[in-house]
Amino acid sequence: MAKKHVVVLTGAGMSAESGVSTFRDSGGLWEQYRVEQVATPEGWHEDPKLVTDFYNGLRRQLLTKEPCEGHRLLAEMEQDCNVSIITQNVDDLHERAGSSRVLHLHGELFKVTSSMNPNDPRQIRTLKDDEWEVKIGDKAPDGSQLRPFIVWFGEAVPNIEPAAEICSQADVFLIIGTSLNVYPAAGLIQYVPQGCPIYLIDPKEVSIPACMPVTHIRKGASEGMREFLRTLQP
Ligand code: OAD
Repeated sequence: MAKKHVVVLTGAGMSAESGVSTFRDSGGLWEQYRVEQVATPEGWHEDPKLVTDFYNGLRRQLLTKEPCEGHRLLAEMEQDCNVSIITQNVDDLHERAGSSRVLHLHGELFKVTSSMNPNDPRQIRTLKDDEWEVKIGDKAPDGSQLRPFIVWFGEAVPNIEPAAEICSQADVFLIIGTSLNVYPAAGLIQYVPQGCPIYLIDPKEVSIPACMPVTHIRKGASEGMREFLRTLQP
């Protein structure tokens, strides 16, 4: 029998049990920093040093974090299913847990790029662990200041089309730990084929922007994944 294709859309709640802050929960990142300052092209133009330091801080923190059980269970699921992960997270915890197909919608914290041509593949570079601290004056191959390889608010999301294509091929769709506040990521559910079972793992209520029946597992990512795997068994 052909393996099921499980498409998983993850958000910050996926990494909460690894100790990574979410954005909109109480105490979340957007309570501590102004989005306009650190996550928009305007913020970058106004104060590149502040933005550079902000992402240096996130990188330094991420080096101390480990994948949680939820990340590991998703990776192990590849033994029985074809698993495609579409993540809004900029951390590399899915990859470190062993997942092999991970598409990042909002960029990757350990990558840097040109501030002139951010989506030119020739400008994008992965930092080694000991290179987490980027400085003003560090240059991309095209000679412009290095910036984080992060999709900021107001910028296009180049991976949205491949993500929509993956969603349209789902046999099972699983959403973990996202408030579905940010578009176009939140609109991906519209591409899931009719009749495809949809599961949501999140301890809180999330409004799903479609009249689709969703099985809500009201748990954290790790416990929720254990329950999801039980329901998936034939
Ligand atoms: P949010 O902070 O908006 O939502 C986090 C979700 O995770 C909420 O629904 C929480 O209830 C849930 N949650 C909290 N703890 C959890 C746990 N242990 N297990 C499972 N779920 C848990 O984060 P995102 O939806 O990911 O973009 O935010 C989307 C985008 O907004 C981010 O990628 C980022 C942000 O601004 C950029 O920076 C471009």
